[in-house]
Amino acid sequence: MSGFSSEWLALRAPLDLAARNRAVEAAFIEALPKGALHLLDLASGTGSTVEALSPWLDRPVTWQLTDYDPRLLQVARERWPENTRIRQIDLQADLEQLPFDEVDAVTTSAFLDLASQDFLERLADKVAAAGKPFLASLTYDGRSDFDPGYPKDAELLEALNRHQKSDKGFGPALGPDSAKTAISLFEDRGFQVVSGFSDWQITPKASAFLLEFLGGWLRVGKELNLPEDLLEAWWQDRRTRIEASKLFMTVGHIDFVALP
Ligand SMILES: C[S@@+](CC[C@H](N)C(=O)[O-])C[C@H]1O[C@@H](n2cnc3c(N)ncnc32)[C@H](O)[C@@H]1O
Repeated sequence: MSGFSSEWLALRAPLDLAARNRAVEAAFIEALPKGALHLLDLASGTGSTVEALSPWLDRPVTWQLTDYDPRLLQVARERWPENTRIRQIDLQADLEQLPFDEVDAVTTSAFLDLASQDFLERLADKVAAAGKPFLASLTYDGRSDFDPGYPKDAELLEALNRHQKSDKGFGPALGPDSAKTAISLFEDRGFQVVSGFSDWQITPKASAFLLEFLGGWLRVGKELNLPEDLLEAWWQDRRTRIEASKLFMTVGHIDFVALP
């Protein structure tokens, strides 16, 4: 299983929805064929791409949702009982088994930063061979800013970005370099790419999210053996501000659509 809980995905969902780049999504929707659609979503989790795109698609859509985590897929099945096919699949092992030729387009969100160079090449090859539009939303790009900041934020961010490049099941992950690499791979295959930022704009209202998210930073800092006193002072400051509703944050993401 993936280590992404449905509770965590639900906490980030409102930020994801607000952050999605509308110009990129519009370019994707414009490129779709007329009439009923069949869309393939990779690493769907609980189906947030369905929620995000449905308001903009004014015709019948059959979604094929894929993930290797059965708990997340079960939530997706309950959320989207109609016109949705659910397929449990390990994308690293079995990407080539998916029916790229039979769908109208391929989507994914909050996923490419987990992938390796090798996996992105396989993915770009499959999408290019099928000649389908590809929408990748919300790929983390390595930028994070706090307001107010704390002197050790940069040190933690550097550690986090290093950790993002560890193996997430696909070989060494590209982490913050993923979106740029994927864009180049699609351009090399003759695709036209439209990209834009989709940053999380996190306000103090998202305190439950911030506690969980920065708790994750703390765990990474411990895993990477950053000095205990540094970590404790940082967490004490950040947590106090979150609890006092005084911490804002921006987290950088990139959305792109690759058009054949
Ligand atoms: C950050 S979540 C994003 C989920 C969803 N797309 C969203 O935007 O909410 C990353 C997803 O990738 C899935 N995943 C990770 N490695 C995978 C693999 N090898 N095969 C299939 N799914 C995988 C996880 O189970 C998880 O659902």
